Amino acid sequence: MTETLTMLGLESSCDDTAAAVVRHTVGQRGEILSSVALGQSDLHSEFGGIVPEIAARAHAEKLDIAVEQALMQAEIGLSKLDGVAVTAGPGLIGGVLSGVMCAKGIAAGAGLPLIGVNHLAGHALTPRLTDGFEFPYLMLLVSGGHCQFLIVKGADDFTRLGSTIDDAPGEAFDKVARMLGLPQPGGPAVEAEAKAGVPGRFKFPRPLLDRPGCDMSFSGLKTAILRERNKLVEQHGGLRRTDRADLCAGFQAAVVDVFAHKTRVALQAYLALSPSRPALAVAGGVAANLAIRTALETVSAELDIQFSAPPMALCTDNGAMIAWAGIERFRAGLIDDLSLGARPRWPLDMLSPSGLGSGKKGAKA
Ligand code: KG4
Ligand code: ZN
Repeated sequence: MTETLTMLGLESSCDDTAAAVVRHTVGQRGEILSSVALGQSDLHSEFGGIVPEIAARAHAEKLDIAVEQALMQAEIGLSKLDGVAVTAGPGLIGGVLSGVMCAKGIAAGAGLPLIGVNHLAGHALTPRLTDGFEFPYLMLLVSGGHCQFLIVKGADDFTRLGSTIDDAPGEAFDKVARMLGLPQPGGPAVEAEAKAGVPGRFKFPRPLLDRPGCDMSFSGLKTAILRERNKLVEQHGGLRRTDRADLCAGFQAAVVDVFAHKTRVALQAYLALSPSRPALAVAGGVAANLAIRTALETVSAELDIQFSAPPMALCTDNGAMIAWAGIERFRAGLIDDLSLGARPRWPLDMLSPSGLGSGKKGAKA
């Protein structure tokens, strides 16, 4: 086995053009030598959401720059790399294609192995990069397009225990932000507003908590916020600052309760299968939310379970997680060739039946 691997990782499946260089020596923790993310929020802001064609064009323009910056920051040339990893799906197909074409060009030009990475695997394997987690562990993957409990058993071995049956939580944060006149991406904006709000002022639903299993739902909650907003607007002729903050706090508190409860249920199912590896990790853009991180940390502490949440920069989309997943796949012998395709849909768990809503909605579905 190659003792030390240095991998370039490219990510362009949504609205971040990212490149990173990660190095790993067997028996040691992975090291992020550089991580560059060029966002595109400014290009999409006037449309209230991500416009796929604009995203694809911006990725095509920015990928070279991101790669150049990542190599420069890592102080490394292409000849010192052991491979190029790239998000090959799931995601907005134009962006994924831009990344795959760029990676193929680099791999062919520099004579490097090419590794296609599932974007979700990038998120799901992050605790191995940041905290040296061993397989298996339970992962709550929460992002703009996805929400699932996974048992992570290997670089390419995932079992889904449950998922959202409608909206992804990031999507719900984004929609709530939009209905309250807050900027996109909605997650950080709603979280900031919620800090000043009273979570208990409105009685919002906690969907599916009365049902067994660890499937989740966020669509009804979002509708409840809309209804309450409309009532307030009717009563006062608009939303007052406190109303907006209380709505955000109430929404976030409901999401936190759903995650805390369903994580307990998922942990029970996971621990029944893997009693000797009590470990939980959260990943994806929504994992940047402090209230959610804290709630999951508390559940883990109650049950004496090892817990990992990525550093903020590795919650949202980034190149380091793709480079790392590339290293994991390389070590598992999962190397691609120039026939690598771009896939708009690519479930991590191919065997479980697809969730009702998971992975079917949102920009990152
Ligand atoms: O993982 P990510 O960067 O892209 C996808 O793969 O979807 O996640 C983006 C999502 C957005 O919906 C964004 O609103 C949400 O993550 N997000 C947050 C926070 N920061 C980002 N949601 C809640 N609280 C946050 N602090
Ligand atoms: Zn993501």
